[in-house]
Amino acid sequence: MGRRRALLAGGAVLAAGLGAATGELVGSAGADVRASDDAPAAPIPFHGARQAGVTAPQQPATQFVAFDLPRTSAVADRDTLRGVLGALTRSLAATASAAPPDARLQDGGTTRLSSLVGIGPALAARLRLRVPPPLAALPPFPDDRLDPRRGDGDVLVQLCAADRWSLTVAAELVGAAANSAGATTRWTQSGFLPRTAPGSTPRNLFGSKDGTANPDRAAADRWVWGPPGPHRNGTVLVYRRIHMDVAGFAALPEGDRDRAMGRRTRDGAPLGGTAEHEEPDIYAKNPNGSYVIPATAHVRLASPRFDGGARMFRRSYSYDDGPTDRGLLFCAFMRDPHQFTRVQERLTARDALNPFLEHRASAVAYVLPGAPESGTLGERLFG
Ligand code: HEM
Repeated sequence: MGRRRALLAGGAVLAAGLGAATGELVGSAGADVRASDDAPAAPIPFHGARQAGVTAPQQPATQFVAFDLPRTSAVADRDTLRGVLGALTRSLAATASAAPPDARLQDGGTTRLSSLVGIGPALAARLRLRVPPPLAALPPFPDDRLDPRRGDGDVLVQLCAADRWSLTVAAELVGAAANSAGATTRWTQSGFLPRTAPGSTPRNLFGSKDGTANPDRAAADRWVWGPPGPHRNGTVLVYRRIHMDVAGFAALPEGDRDRAMGRRTRDGAPLGGTAEHEEPDIYAKNPNGSYVIPATAHVRLASPRFDGGARMFRRSYSYDDGPTDRGLLFCAFMRDPHQFTRVQERLTARDALNPFLEHRASAVAYVLPGAPESGTLGERLFG
């Protein structure tokens, strides 16, 4: 039997949020977020060193809203961006607060809204914004079928909450704030998770536990958050709207599904292992010399061992846009989006999941550092 390194017992909690398990949130934010299961009515603080949309535990529902800015002159567009970021900051802070500004949000306690705001690479280049140097659009991948009307964008907002209602209203308020400051809504997308016991990993529509192998604090400091300096509390979100042939995959025998993934559907344990949070042993072999985790298995090809240990923080949601379009909103946070490119190039070449997947939209955004009390998101962009 090959080497196994049992990850810390709290691995599933790590999958839930980068701040909650690692204590990375500052001030009261960390305490409130950690107490989330005991105190469901407490708001998730909007202000903090890092945006709660990354640090708070993953919530059951999400809504993306992407905006474009007008293209006039760099000077005028920078002013518009300042105005949009100011409007978003005020609207998100108010909506997440103990007294949300809309009667439709006032009946069930606070919204438990967490959010993040990011800047697209094209806008950053056009307005010469101070963003991390590796921020760039992704290259095309061979089997992409991307719909530009469902991807990209100048400013990306991800809202997360416990329920669909709060998200719909919050998205309306936040959208109206951004629109009145001059941004045009480009696309929206909603997603959801199954009901999952606290601390356990949610499943995707293929039935697999998704989000198991996420970074611990030390790995997140190295691979997810920016390097020391102005981008330390920022990160980069890679979003892919991936259509899944759910029925086709379900028709495979269970053993084939497990081998395609490299983990058991039933309990999420890597093939050859016994527990979900064991690290997949990509070197282990069967007596006949074949790999226990097959050469084309998803977790082998995505393994950080092929990337000098680089890890991304994956926090995906499922989507359902009608009977013929269901799938995964793949969301991963990383310091350098080239990491996604390297993994995706390996996956495109021979991932056993490929016959069941189609990438239909894509976006990259620099997730800004959090806003301090009385501050505005993105203040340092204009340097
Ligand atoms: C619909 C498409 C996808 C599905 C259904 C899927 C599903 C999964 C599952 C079930 C796991 C194992 C459990 C876990 O560690 O979370 C996993 C691991 C992983 N996936 Fe995916 N995934 C998809 C797309 C992608 C893409 C596009 C990338 C990046 C290019 C990616 C990168 C990874 C990574 C880095 C791991 C962890 C590998 C490890 O550290 O062991 N996945 N995925």
